[in-house]
Amino acid sequence: MTQPALLRFQTRPDRPEEPGTEILIGVGARDVLCRELARAFPEAPFALLVDEQVLTAWRPWFDELATAPLTLLALPAGEEAKTPESWTYNQRALVRAGLPRSGFLVGVGGGATGDLCAFAAATYHRGVGVALVPTSLLAMVDASLGGKCGLNLPEGKNLVGAFLDARLLVVDPAFLSTLPPEEFRSGLGEILKYAVGFSVDLFDLLEKHADLNPESEVDLLGAIVGRCLKIKASIVESDPKETTGERIRLNLGHTTAHALETWAAQQDLLLPHGIAVSLGLRVALRVSQARKLISEQDLERSLHLLERFQMPRTPMQVLPTLEHPKLTDLAELIARDKKRGADEVRIILPTGRGQCEAKSSKPLAFAQDILDTLFGD
Ligand SMILES: NC(=O)c1ccc[n+]([C@@H]2O[C@H](COP(=O)([O-])OP(=O)(O)OC[C@H]3O[C@@H](n4cnc5c(N)ncnc54)[C@H](O)[C@@H]3O)[C@@H](O)[C@H]2O)c1
Ligand SMILES: [Zn+2]
Repeated sequence: MTQPALLRFQTRPDRPEEPGTEILIGVGARDVLCRELARAFPEAPFALLVDEQVLTAWRPWFDELATAPLTLLALPAGEEAKTPESWTYNQRALVRAGLPRSGFLVGVGGGATGDLCAFAAATYHRGVGVALVPTSLLAMVDASLGGKCGLNLPEGKNLVGAFLDARLLVVDPAFLSTLPPEEFRSGLGEILKYAVGFSVDLFDLLEKHADLNPESEVDLLGAIVGRCLKIKASIVESDPKETTGERIRLNLGHTTAHALETWAAQQDLLLPHGIAVSLGLRVALRVSQARKLISEQDLERSLHLLERFQMPRTPMQVLPTLEHPKLTDLAELIARDKKRGADEVRIILPTGRGQCEAKSSKPLAFAQDILDTLFGD
C-alpha cells in the first residue's frame, strides 16, 4: 500500500517574528513524530503527557518511539486531567524529572489532555514549548489549535487558563480507530459546524460522505480534518486573542451548546460537546430562518446534512432522563455564558451554506428559541 502524502502547513506564515503552529496531518504522521519534534525543538529534552486510555490503547507505539522522553506522565482519562490537582501533580513531577527550562512538553490525547498539557507548558518555569498529538476527533479539528488552554475549577469549566500556541501539531487520523464511537460522533458535530458556517467545499464533501467511518475511511478523515484546521487557522490568525469579533464566529452553535451542557451537568448527565454543538446548529438555523437571513434552500440542505449524520433533534434523544428546562433556567444559563451579565448576547447565525455572521439576541428570547427548536414548546 502506498503511503499518502502528509499535508503540512504553518499558521501565521507571514509573521516569522511570532511563530505559529506547524501542522502535519495524515495517516502515518505519528511515525515521524520524533523526527518532527527534533526539527521543531532541536536537541531539547521533552516530557510526554498522555491520556491513560490512549496510553493503554497504543502502548506498543509509545514503547517504540524513536526518542525516549525524559519522563512519561499518564494523565487521568478525559476531563479529570484538567483539575488544579492534576496540574500541581504534573508540575511537581516535571521538576522531579529534571525537565529544564530549555525542555518542552508533548501532549498525546483528546482535548482535555491538550488543554492540561499546554497550560502546564505555559506555566512550567514561566513557559516552555509544547507540541500536541490529538487523538480524538474533537481535539483534531478544534481543541489543539488556537492557543487556548486551561483548567476547570469546581465553580465551572475553563475558568483558569492561558494562551499558548502549540509549536507543532501532529495529527494522525489512525488514532481514531480506538476512539469510543460516541466520542467520534461528538467530533462530527464540531465538523458539521465548520461545514454549515464556514465552507461550502466541506459542506459538499460531507454531503457525499455521510457514512464516514473511522476505520475504513481514514484518509478521507485526514482530508476533512485538514480542511477544518485550515478554516480554524485562518480565522484565529485574523483575531488571535478574540478581540476583533472574527474569532467569535467559531462559536457558531456554542451558546446553545454551553447552556445545554451545563443544564445536563446540573443533573449529573453528560451531553457530549459536539452533540451539543449540533443541537446548537439547529437552533441557529431556525433563528436565521425566522430572521430571514438564510434562503429556504440553504436551510433545508443544512438541516438535511445534520439528519444524514444522524445528529439528534432533541437532547432527550441522547439523554432520555434529561429534565425539560424552564424558560428562565435556560435564559440564566445563556446570560451567564456571556460572562458579563449585559442584557444582550452575541449569537452566531448561518447566513447561507458555509457562511455565518455574529448577531445579537436577548437571553430570554434566545432561550425561547432553544425551547421551540429542541424541546417542542
Ligand atoms: N482549547 C480549545 O480551544 C478547546 C476547544 C474545544 C474543546 N476544548 C476542550 O477539549 C475537551 C474535550 O475534548 P475531547 O472531546 O477530545 O475530550 P477528552 O479529551 O475528554 O477525550 C474524550 C475521551 O476519549 C478518550 N480518547 C481520546 N482519544 C482516544 C483514542 N484515540 N482512543 C481511545 N480513547 C481515546 C479519552 O480518554 C476520553 O475518555 C474539553 O475539556 C474542552 O474544554 C478545548
Ligand atoms: Zn466546540
